Amino acid sequence: MKKLWQLIMPSSSTAAENSSPAVDSECQVLSETYLDCEYKTHLQMAVEHLWKTKNEGDLLTCGIGRKESAAWLAESIIACQQLSEQSAQIVPPKLYLLAHHAASPELIKRCQNILPPEGFVAVRGFFPQSIEDIRYCKFRLIHLDSEIVDSTNDILENLFAKGMLMNGSMIMLDGGLNELDLWTELAQKYSVQFVDLGSYGASGRKFLIHSYEPNAKIFTEDLLSRFERSEIDKDCRRQLTMAVEYLDGAGVKGGIGKFGLSNGGKVLCLLKERLEQEQEQKLTLFVDFRAAEHLKPMFGLLLTQVSLIEGNFLEQLGRISPSQLFRLVHIEEFNEEQVLETLSRLLKNKAIAEGAIILLDDGVNHSHFCDLVKDHNIDYEDLGTYAVRGRKFLIRRYNPVPARTPARDLRILSSFERTAAEKDIRKHLILAVEYIYGADVNGDIAEFGTCEGRTAAWLADAISSCEAYYGPQKQSAIDARFDPKRLYLFDSFEGLPDAVSTVDLQCPHVQTGVWGAATSKALNAPQLRSLCEKFMPGERIEIIEGWYSESMKHFAATTKFSLLHIDCDLYQSTMEVLDVLFDKELIAEGAAILFDDWNPNRASPGFGERKAWSDLLLKYEIEHSNWGSYGWGGQKFLIHSYRKRQ
Ligand SMILES: C[S@@+](CC[C@H](N)C(=O)[O-])C[C@H]1O[C@@H](n2cnc3c(N)ncnc32)[C@H](O)[C@@H]1O
Repeated sequence: MKKLWQLIMPSSSTAAENSSPAVDSECQVLSETYLDCEYKTHLQMAVEHLWKTKNEGDLLTCGIGRKESAAWLAESIIACQQLSEQSAQIVPPKLYLLAHHAASPELIKRCQNILPPEGFVAVRGFFPQSIEDIRYCKFRLIHLDSEIVDSTNDILENLFAKGMLMNGSMIMLDGGLNELDLWTELAQKYSVQFVDLGSYGASGRKFLIHSYEPNAKIFTEDLLSRFERSEIDKDCRRQLTMAVEYLDGAGVKGGIGKFGLSNGGKVLCLLKERLEQEQEQKLTLFVDFRAAEHLKPMFGLLLTQVSLIEGNFLEQLGRISPSQLFRLVHIEEFNEEQVLETLSRLLKNKAIAEGAIILLDDGVNHSHFCDLVKDHNIDYEDLGTYAVRGRKFLIRRYNPVPARTPARDLRILSSFERTAAEKDIRKHLILAVEYIYGADVNGDIAEFGTCEGRTAAWLADAISSCEAYYGPQKQSAIDARFDPKRLYLFDSFEGLPDAVSTVDLQCPHVQTGVWGAATSKALNAPQLRSLCEKFMPGERIEIIEGWYSESMKHFAATTKFSLLHIDCDLYQSTMEVLDVLFDKELIAEGAAILFDDWNPNRASPGFGERKAWSDLLLKYEIEHSNWGSYGWGGQKFLIHSYRKRQ
């Protein structure tokens, strides 16, 4: 493996290839002095260390006393990226350069040449005001080269007070030894736990920060004042406080659901302190950050207990989980249709607690609201205006309207029953769905391998029938919220991947091209959705598009699975799916796993899903029952327990 410094040498570096010759030659001269070499090496080592420790946060360099240090940091980022190409998942940090107005344009240009546009931000202005421009960033490396002790003080004071340093970050003071008194004072003031990493260069000093205590007061006041720009904002804040106080007093349980962000999150500010006191009171934020990307870092800072549901409006609604219960719903959305759709979805899901308060930032037309009230038989109290055009309501009681079950198109379902095996597969899928309802197995249903949507449509239809039959029984029997099951559909929508594992490469179906790359490609995601929506409500269908090697890694499940239909043919694909599901313990006790491709490849135990299953049995000590075969190719299992073999 190459060492970092080998990649940074001018002959091989991206920097050297991209940067302008005039600046390059200047750098060449500068980096030939021993002192510069020393500074450069320390900066490179710091970046390499932080990279290896996978710390989060960006890099900040302030001041340009030592002219080339920003460029050295930029080069180090590129070099680290090249070093870690195999583990390509790491998102490279951004480099922020804070420099006064007269900062060398050559240096800025040089950094721009080294780093991609999204990787470099030059902020011009005077300290500490310029810090305000990057107020919501978090840093893993701070390099200070301001030459003026007062500026160093201003900058560090701001970074500590406002919580802008990640724990585990490194601070490098170029004029370090002169600044030691200042450091001692700040470390005391912010209870900084740190390690002194010693000196570097002629007078530099560096520190590793384990932890510190930001000034919570500055932090909160600063944020609150940011969102209290008008009398309307002040009024909203007062009303929100009253709502939460009332809910506390009335003992109404549940979390807080916030839909939309048009005003930049005043609710979050307000609720920050409360949420931190009451750990269980979760805030779920439904937001489309595509329009407000700049606000994203702020939310990370504001709240630790925030669950973020991203995506466009419909995607967000589709992700309201069946177990969610809100005691305060705040909708900051000006499109009336979307406000009504959100409310109606929440009511259908029984996601609004009885006794909850709903705050609509922009109100809704009175007669439209009356329709909603009628549909859901809502017993409510109008609590009057909120903000200027907004309205607030107390929801005493309501009946959820069961999600509409679409009229089943039986012809579509039977058109997939082309052979005796297909008839049998459908029957066994229905039986498996009935089993998880009848035997009370927790969790949702997932299919891996959707292709023409045949089995997905059968599953959707079976879920709807069971929901209609078992739903009311369960609700009254256990007198609790009955969570309707969701259907998760996973596929690349590109057909099979290239076979890469030796198991697959040797299997007959791959060798004859039956399981060739891009075979089994049929419906795309929207077509699959519209097919399945003919059989079950769309808000309970989740389509996860992409290769399993990626989609499974990023799939943050909020559910367990009660039924898995594995129809992705290859050994490798089956492993990519089940290894994650077992490892993250996402498979419920009693879950059914149906393998569609148990007997292909002449039923050889050395290939495909058979081989994957025997590997998994070893890896996870899975206690299971063999539930029999179906069709000519399928095999079913029931899972009792499992744990990773030590
Ligand atoms: C045999 S087809 C599924 C048939 C489907 N159940 C039906 O009844 O129409 C196999 C599917 O698995 C998907 N697949 C296989 N390996 C995959 C992988 N690694 N990532 C994503 N999709 C994969 C393919 O795209 C293909 O749609």
